[in-house]
Amino acid sequence: MHLWGLEGDWFPWTGCDITGPMSQDRPLNNAELLSVLDWYRAAGVDLAVLDEPVDRFAQKPPMPAAIPPRAAPAGAAPAAPPSLSGPVGGDPSEARQLAASAQSLDALRAALERYDGCGLKFRATQLVFADGNPDAKIMLIGEAPGAEEDRQGKPFVGRSGQLLDRMLGAIGLDRTSVYIVNTVPWRPPGNRTPTPEEMELCLPFLNRQVELVAPRLVMTLGGPAMQTVFKTTSGIIKMRGRWQDVTIGTHTVPALPTLHPAYLLRNPPAKQQAWRDLLSFRQRVDELGLA
Ligand code: URA
Repeated sequence: MHLWGLEGDWFPWTGCDITGPMSQDRPLNNAELLSVLDWYRAAGVDLAVLDEPVDRFAQKPPMPAAIPPRAAPAGAAPAAPPSLSGPVGGDPSEARQLAASAQSLDALRAALERYDGCGLKFRATQLVFADGNPDAKIMLIGEAPGAEEDRQGKPFVGRSGQLLDRMLGAIGLDRTSVYIVNTVPWRPPGNRTPTPEEMELCLPFLNRQVELVAPRLVMTLGGPAMQTVFKTTSGIIKMRGRWQDVTIGTHTVPALPTLHPAYLLRNPPAKQQAWRDLLSFRQRVDELGLA
């Protein structure tokens, strides 16, 4: 994520001298710089917004509005200051209504662009809607965009996406034969797992995306996607490799949960299990004549 205002000339990632508000009297030493970096990383700040540093503290305050705001009625609470992080508690019924009204994938994308109910949107660079072939009858569902996906606006284009491409290639598939989405379409800060509330707010859009694509096979990648799609609290290690018919929105489809490529990168021996899942998936693809 990026945080407005962090790119001042005291921002350690720019490599500039640290003489700004973090250190009133002296530059920070190396240990202090490292702990600032750690703090940013823990808060999910891992992206410089601009190439050149901007000292926000040296900037003039914004011009006053041309039209002065109307005075609040006597006794009214003062207006809340605008929030940079966006609303935190959206209304799932608004998401359901918006999603249900979309009659095409383009309309659904436009609805998501308009939707401000999920706070993730305000921390992300852009919407990550889908990749692959919307006419494909095979759908892959991942968890959430990461840093590279957030930059490019496409799911699974970072390191785990490269592994996913190799996994698909190993069973004769590629992005022309599958359609790829995530349970949430905005990157959670610091790549954390989306909260249940964030997933609930985004679920109507995923449901509608599945209804509109109407896949004949689904594969979920990793625990959170599996739990969302299979509506279970069971763990991925127990569930992986087990086919089940699932109903996503109004669409019922056979689905196979497998391990997330990011997990396989961290734990290469688990590729053996993922390979078994992939072979099972390929067999169903052949049985249905899908690719
Ligand atoms: N991990 C996911 O689950 N989805 C992506 O798009 C990228 C990484």
